[in-house]
Amino acid sequence: MGKIAILAGPVADQIAAGEVVERPASVVKELVENALDAGATSITVSVEGGGRDLIRVGDDGTGMDRDDAVLSIDRHATSKIRRASDLIGVPTFGFRGEALASIASVSRFELETAPESGQGTRLTVRAGRLESVEETARTRGTTVTVAKLFANTPARRKYLRSPRSETRAAVEALTVLALARLDVAFTLSSDGRTRIEAPSVADIGERIAALFGRKLADQLLPVEYNDGYVTVRGFVQRPADAAASGRRAHLFVNGRPFRDPFLVRSAEAGYRATIAPGHRPTVFLAIEVPGDRVDVNVHPAKLEVRFRDRRFIEHAVEEAVRQALGVMDASARFGAEEHAPKSDARWGPAPSAPIAPSVPESYHSLFDETPSSVAASPVSGDLLQLFSTYIVFETPDGLTIVDQHSAHERVLYEDAMQQLSGRGAAGQRLLLPLTLDLTPDELEAIEEAGELLSAVGYEVEGFGGRSVVLHAVPNPHPRFDAHRCFEELVADLARGRFGGWANRLERFAAMYGCRAAIKAGHHLEQREMRSLLERLFACRLAPHDVHGRPSMVQLPKHELERRFGRA
Ligand SMILES: Nc1ncnc2c1ncn2[C@@H]1O[C@H](COP(=O)(O)OP(=O)(O)O)[C@@H](O)[C@H]1O
Ligand SMILES: [Mg+2]
Repeated sequence: MGKIAILAGPVADQIAAGEVVERPASVVKELVENALDAGATSITVSVEGGGRDLIRVGDDGTGMDRDDAVLSIDRHATSKIRRASDLIGVPTFGFRGEALASIASVSRFELETAPESGQGTRLTVRAGRLESVEETARTRGTTVTVAKLFANTPARRKYLRSPRSETRAAVEALTVLALARLDVAFTLSSDGRTRIEAPSVADIGERIAALFGRKLADQLLPVEYNDGYVTVRGFVQRPADAAASGRRAHLFVNGRPFRDPFLVRSAEAGYRATIAPGHRPTVFLAIEVPGDRVDVNVHPAKLEVRFRDRRFIEHAVEEAVRQALGVMDASARFGAEEHAPKSDARWGPAPSAPIAPSVPESYHSLFDETPSSVAASPVSGDLLQLFSTYIVFETPDGLTIVDQHSAHERVLYEDAMQQLSGRGAAGQRLLLPLTLDLTPDELEAIEEAGELLSAVGYEVEGFGGRSVVLHAVPNPHPRFDAHRCFEELVADLARGRFGGWANRLERFAAMYGCRAAIKAGHHLEQREMRSLLERLFACRLAPHDVHGRPSMVQLPKHELERRFGRA
């Protein structure tokens, strides 16, 4: 009994139709998705000439019997849905029954498949016409060979890029699927050279290392977040490692890769005030929502999805990232040792039964580690100040070194953000008001930023001409020089410094934090250091200053042990 049927006209009409085969990479994507839907545990891809000459995808999945094999290349032939309602929460990559038909119509196409070892079928298609069907002996699974892609559609062949860039696109297409399914082994070779070799793994860190190298894998922090019906899991780069170029951003929903520049921006928003403007962090985020909260049937190549409540998802992604960055482990580290995702860090759908009717239960419990949302103060024992600039203390896992200025900046930034968005802070009234002479630019800047200055505690009054009088000033620490800080702030405002910040409040809070914070070179008493650290660890993003630098670095105990040969 065959599994494949042709979708009824009205069902087929509800499916987002369009061109699925644009270039060799789309062929690779469609064929590998079919292999995954067929429950393959091992998938081998080879391309020649950038995929113009040949693309071959072999799998060890369920295979097809002879009737299904013949049906599979018809348009709207699918085993994955029957009714339009099956589209809600559809767990398979495919559901349109179009890929094989489209590919076969623009290539020399060969399909070899067997539902059980021994009983195979081999069929060939030329320019969309079934040419031959014969029996063949092969092991269970399917191999599709696509030769001379677009040979009969010269217009499309003309649009292909160089073999090198087509190969690169094919590698990227497989990379994305390899991130989605850790339980499957993938290889890709191009003109005989291995480009991807990713054995099945239980740990996303291992897969990331196999695809992008160990270095990136070691820079990642786990994300684990839940709010209402949405769960966000994944790995994001330590802020200190984010760079201006070369980042990767991969999103998945219910195990399905998708593109969404706006959600990537939400993830970046979670980094705000921890990385330098212009730096882009690498993120891998897997979102899970009930099947009816996301529509996957909106894009011809299924590259995009539509969430029912977009703002909620954007908020969840931003919060998930911010929470991941708030832990002690997010701080910068010494040593080349591994601080990679823990070995039980897994993600993505569980190995599902082929063409499972729904997402398996176990899918929801795969990430079992939960990083605490806010770093609890790890400070105990004596504090040491080095060079009148750094505060050093011991933690159970090693040695932590805090930069007193960066740390205070972080504290004042977060305080200022609260003051700016809340009632503001009362300044300290001056017995002798200060009179300052300013430039016209500076006077204008003060006028514009009047309510920001007063929110952090400055009470400023115009005095006619170029003078202003300060009646009250903030008091962030005993050595605070209110006069100098005010002048610097006003100069920053007038010069429009601190560009690149998302909004005006954040920009001002960062300026204020920077100018008001205790400087390097100031001696601090035990009591002062302790109170600074307590306030630092109460911050949301304690490990990072507001310019994209760390506020603390860690020397892990095991790194010491390694260096001294104790490990
Ligand atoms: N590698 C494969 N192994 C087993 N069955 C396959 C494979 N590739 C395709 N099929 C069968 O052929 C049908 C048509 O494939 P396709 O044209 O990609 O449409 P869709 O994936 O949307 O169903 C699938 O529904 C599936 O039953
Ligand atoms: Mg398909």
